[in-house]
Amino acid sequence: MLVALLLFCVVRLALGTVLVDFQVAQPPPVPQDARQCTFQILQRDFAFSFGSSEVAQFTPPSDCGPIGSWAAITLNFTVTSNGTQFDRLGIFTFQNVEIWRTSTPEPTRGDGIIWTYIKDVTRYTPLFAKPGTFILQLDNLIQPGLDGIYSTTLHATFYASSSKRPPAKKADLIVPLSTFANNTGNDASVPPGFSLNVTLPRNTVSVFAELYASGNGAEEFWYFNAANQFLPRLPSGTALGQGPFREVRLLIDDKIAGVAFPYATIFTGGIAPTAWRPISSYGALDLPTYFLDLSPFVPVLVDGRPHEFTIDVASAEDDHAILQNWFVSGLLQVNTDVSPKPTTGRITSYAAQPFASTATTGSVDDSGDVNITVKATRRIHVEADIVSGSGKRTHAIWSQDLRYSNVQNYLKNTTIQNVVQAASGTVLSLHNGVPSVVDTFSYPLNINITLLTPNGGSFVASFDHSYDRDLLPFPAVSRSTTEERQLAVGFFNVAPTGNTGNGTNSNVFCYSDSAGNTYRRRVNAVLNNITLDVQSGTLAPDAQRDSMGSPPAVVGPTRARLPGGRVIGL
Ligand SMILES: *[C@@H]1O[C@H](CO)[C@@H](O)[C@H](O)[C@H]1NC(C)=O
Ligand SMILES: *[C@@H]1O[C@H](CO)[C@@H](O)[C@H](O)[C@H]1NC(C)=O
Ligand SMILES: *[C@@H]1O[C@H](CO)[C@@H](O)[C@H](O)[C@H]1NC(C)=O
Ligand SMILES: *[C@@H]1O[C@H](CO)[C@@H](O)[C@H](O)[C@H]1NC(C)=O
Ligand SMILES: *[C@@H]1O[C@H](CO)[C@@H](O)[C@H](O)[C@H]1NC(C)=O
Ligand SMILES: *[C@@H]1O[C@H](CO)[C@@H](O)[C@H](O)[C@H]1NC(C)=O
Ligand SMILES: *[C@@H]1O[C@H](CO)[C@@H](O)[C@H](O)[C@H]1NC(C)=O
Ligand SMILES: *[C@@H]1O[C@H](CO)[C@@H](O)[C@H](O)[C@H]1NC(C)=O
Ligand SMILES: *[C@@H]1O[C@H](CO)[C@@H](O)[C@H](O)[C@H]1NC(C)=O
Repeated sequence: MLVALLLFCVVRLALGTVLVDFQVAQPPPVPQDARQCTFQILQRDFAFSFGSSEVAQFTPPSDCGPIGSWAAITLNFTVTSNGTQFDRLGIFTFQNVEIWRTSTPEPTRGDGIIWTYIKDVTRYTPLFAKPGTFILQLDNLIQPGLDGIYSTTLHATFYASSSKRPPAKKADLIVPLSTFANNTGNDASVPPGFSLNVTLPRNTVSVFAELYASGNGAEEFWYFNAANQFLPRLPSGTALGQGPFREVRLLIDDKIAGVAFPYATIFTGGIAPTAWRPISSYGALDLPTYFLDLSPFVPVLVDGRPHEFTIDVASAEDDHAILQNWFVSGLLQVNTDVSPKPTTGRITSYAAQPFASTATTGSVDDSGDVNITVKATRRIHVEADIVSGSGKRTHAIWSQDLRYSNVQNYLKNTTIQNVVQAASGTVLSLHNGVPSVVDTFSYPLNINITLLTPNGGSFVASFDHSYDRDLLPFPAVSRSTTEERQLAVGFFNVAPTGNTGNGTNSNVFCYSDSAGNTYRRRVNAVLNNITLDVQSGTLAPDAQRDSMGSPPAVVGPTRARLPGGRVIGL
C-alpha cells in the first residue's frame, strides 16, 4: 500500500494539475501479505473506436501458486483523457462473459484527468483459470467538438493462497448468458428481449444468476420518463414516454424466474456534469449487478436438453414496452454433484406473474403543472425439492418481494422538473433453511432540476441518491452491507465563450462484510477541490489522501445531457 501511495504522489507531481476522478467504493478485500502477480492485460488509446473493441489473449499466471487456487483476483483499470468528450460505456467481456460494466468520467482540457478503479473479480475465478479472450468495448467518437481520447491500461493482479488465506471458494462452472460475439462486448441490446438456449450438466445441483443491465440512449434517464397518459399534457421536447418504472426480467422457457428493480446509475455527463467532477455518481465506474437463485428450476434444467433463457426489460405501461435501449447480459454460477448421475426432483410451488402490479395516477392544473405518480409491487415465490445423484436432498425456496414508487413534478412551465423515486425489496433464497442469496436493498433517488433560462442554457440540479444493500450474491462469496448516500449539486451554464459551472458532492459510505472487513469514507468536493476525505476501517489505505489541488472552476466545453431529450440551448 505504501508503494501505491508513493506512486500516487509521483503521478500527481508529474502531471501537475491533472484532475484525479474517482468513484467512492470499498477497496477489494485482498490479502496484503500474499504473493502477488501483476501483469498487463491490455493497453489501448480509444480514439474513434466505434465498432472497434480491444481484443486481447489471456493466459493464467503460473507463478502465483497452482492455477485457479488464488485467494483473490483484481483488475486495475487506469485511464487518462484530455479534451472534450462525452462519458462512454465500457464493457469488459472475458471468456464470453461480461465481468465488469463501467463508464468514463468526462475529461477536462489541458492537463486532463486520470482515474484508477480497482475491481474485485474473484467471483469469476473459474474463468481466469483457463486461457481465453478478453474484450474491452469502449465505443468512443472523435468528431468536430469531440476530441477526447481515452488512454486505457488494464492490469490483473492474482493473490496466491496460503494457509492463512485459503483459495477463494468458487462455482464448478460459469455459463454465459451473452451474445458470444468474438470482437465486441457480449451484451445484448433490448428491446426486443434477448434469448439464448442453455444446456446445463445433468448433475447440476444449484444455479445462481447474475444480471448486468443499464439504460442508455432514450432510456438513460428512465426514472424521468413520463407515463404515456400524461405525455400529451407536457410540452413536446420535455419528456420521453413509457413511464419511469423498469424491471429487468429473467425468464426460463417463457416463465418468470426472477426480476430486478434496478439502481439508477447516473453517468458523469448526466444532467449536471459539474456535480460529478471529480467524484462520480455512485456506480458510474462499477455498475451494480443483480443476483437471482435459479436452483428451484434445477429439476427442469437437468434433462440434458436446451432451455431458453430470456433477459428483457419491462415498463408499467399497458404494452410493457420500453424505448431504445438497455444493454443486458448475464451469467450462471453452476455447481454440480460429485456423482455424474443426473439430479432429480420437482418444483413443488410456483407463484410469479409475468409482470409487476403497477398503478399510475396524476394531476394537471390550470397553469399546466403536471404531477405523476407510478407505483409497482412484485412478489415471486418458487419452491423445489432437489435430489443429487449422490443422494443429497435439498429443499430450495426462492422469494422476491419488491416495491417501487416514482413521483414526478413538472412545474412553472416545466422549468422545474423533480423526481422522488424509491425502489426497495427483500430477496431471499433458502437451501434447507440456509440463506443462499440475500438481497435487501433500498435505492432512494431524489433529483430537482431548475432551468434558470427557459431553454435550459443555464440550469441547476440537485441530487440525493442512496445505495443501501445487504447482499449475499451466492453462497461462495461473503455477505456484505453497503450504505452510500450522495448529495450533489451542479450548476451549468452554456456560453459561446465556453461553458461554465460549478458543483458540490458529498458522500457518506460504509461497508462491512461477513469476512470481517470494514471500510468507511466521508469525502466531499467543492469546485473540483476535495474539501474533506476521512477513511477508516480494515480496508482503509494506511494514510489519508491529501487535498487534490484546485484546478480552475471553469468547466470548458463539457458535455451535459438533460432528461427527456431536452435541448440545452444558448
Ligand atoms: C494501477 O495501474 C497503474 C498503471 O496503469 C499504476 O500506476 C497504479 O499504481 C496501479 N494502482 C494500484 C493500486 O495497483
Ligand atoms: C492535451 O491535449 C492537447 C491538445 O491535443 C495537447 O496539446 C496537450 O499536450 C495535452 N496535454 C497533456 C497533459 O497530455
Ligand atoms: C467467432 O469467430 C469464428 C472464427 O474465428 C467464427 O467462425 C464465429 O462465427 C464467430 N462467432 C461469432 C458469434 O461471431
Ligand atoms: C431454442 O431452442 C428451441 C428448440 O430447439 C427453438 O425453438 C428456439 O428458437 C431456440 N431459441 C433460440 C433463442 O435460439
Ligand atoms: C404538484 O405537486 C406540487 C409539489 O408537491 C404541488 O405544489 C402542486 O400543487 C401539484 N400540482 C398538481 C397539479 O397536482
Ligand atoms: C413556456 O415555455 C415555452 C418554451 O420555453 C415558452 O415558449 C413560453 O413562452 C413559456 N410560457 C410562459 C407562460 O412562460
Ligand atoms: C427537492 O425539493 C424539495 C422541495 O423543495 C426538497 O424537499 C428536497 O430536499 C429537494 N431535493 C434535493 C435533492 O435537493
Ligand atoms: C456556482 O455558480 C453560481 C452562478 O455563478 C453561483 O451562484 C454559486 O454561488 C456558485 N456555487 C459555488 C459553490 O461556488
Ligand atoms: C480546497 O480545499 C481545501 C480544504 O481541503 C481548502 O483549504 C482550500 O482553500 C480549497 N481551495 C479552493 C480553491 O477552494
